[in-house]
Amino acid sequence: MLNFEFKNPTKILFGRGEIAKISKEVPEDANVLMIYGGGSIKNNGVYDQVKEALKGHQVYEFGGVPANPEYEVLINALDLIKEKDITFLLAVGGGSVIDGTKFLSAAANYEGEPWEILTKPVRTFEGEGMPFGTVLTLPATGSEMNSGYVISRRETNEKLSTGGPGLFPQFSVLDPEVVRSIPPRQIVNGLTDAYTHVLEQYMTAPSSADLQERIAESILISLQETAPKVLSGDFDYDAAGNFMWCCTMALNGLIQKGVITDWAVHAMGHELTAYFGIDHARTLAIIAPSHYRYNFESKKGKLAQYAERVWGIKDGTTEEKAEAGIRKLEEFFHSLNIQTRLSEYTEDYEGTAERVERAFTERNWLGLGEYKKLTPQDAYKIVEMSY
Ligand code: NZQ
Ligand code: ZN
Repeated sequence: MLNFEFKNPTKILFGRGEIAKISKEVPEDANVLMIYGGGSIKNNGVYDQVKEALKGHQVYEFGGVPANPEYEVLINALDLIKEKDITFLLAVGGGSVIDGTKFLSAAANYEGEPWEILTKPVRTFEGEGMPFGTVLTLPATGSEMNSGYVISRRETNEKLSTGGPGLFPQFSVLDPEVVRSIPPRQIVNGLTDAYTHVLEQYMTAPSSADLQERIAESILISLQETAPKVLSGDFDYDAAGNFMWCCTMALNGLIQKGVITDWAVHAMGHELTAYFGIDHARTLAIIAPSHYRYNFESKKGKLAQYAERVWGIKDGTTEEKAEAGIRKLEEFFHSLNIQTRLSEYTEDYEGTAERVERAFTERNWLGLGEYKKLTPQDAYKIVEMSY
């Protein structure tokens, strides 16, 4: 097991009715900016619950953060933060709203041009960001309990990420009741994103970190078992709760400790969102199977372990089990109605591999993956295999 440090300071308030408790978590004398998305919180009662909980606080609002939060929109929130002397941010939404809030937390006290934070990139250390909390409305990203974020810039077709230990939410409310109003398309996105987060931290080489591996496999199995229940059409509180907690646990830092991690699927996937606007989770389902086939030799031991422990495939050689594991992964995505080929999302896919290769080269991303050896030319081949 590799050496590691682990500190996750986010307080979780899990369960029905917990939104009311934010009145005690947000400092009484704070000037609060409540940040939300396109309006789903106004239709499902979450907005009213937050307003009721904070009726004793000074609260300003900034709505309209789009999916794949855009720099151009967030800059307006930054102006409001300065104008109103805001001291505390409250994100009420999914990964996009929470990520946008993390960017604002980092940018509020940053002296230079805010976009530099993403391009340099600048990490935000403890005490540097503006304090913030979250009320999660969409299980998927894990952003509610981690310190990373991803911001898009429409003008330049870029989607870039950064973070830092100063950007953990102070608290996050996880009330499974919010799942009631989530459309099926976003539920399958959440399942797929969380599933792939586990894979990015697991599908490398077999390791000696037995507990992390078993926890990772448990999250994968729980997501597989929960998927049909949260998609059945009848709201099931416990299934919603399991779905939510799986998504949080998939990317709160725990399973990546002591092991090597990949993250190349996300790097390539972000490009597909930047070029074509494809939902984040779907880009991962497009890239992951090709990534595992292309890197078969270095990943086959773990792929076989995945096939065996997660899908119960006991027969065959390591290679046969590994290939069966990739097929099972594709079947799982297809069972969620998620297509796994780029050409199923856009007719305009020719030339994408060149674009990705060029973007990675220009950013000097010359060695990605768990061994830092995946070159822009390798990314070219993987993206081409995903057409
Ligand atoms: O904007 P509103 O009206 O709220 O609608 C949203 C949005 O249209 C809707 N929604 C959210 N909660 C709902 C709901 N609709 C009905 N009922 C509810 N309870 O769902 C739509 C999608 O929301 P969004 O926040 O964009 O989805 P998600 O949580 O999947 O976030 C995606 C973003 O997070 C980034 C992605 O790249 C993408 O930009 N990620 C962030 C990560 C992190 N910070 O750790 C890791 C991930 O890998 C990912 O990259
Ligand atoms: Zn993701």
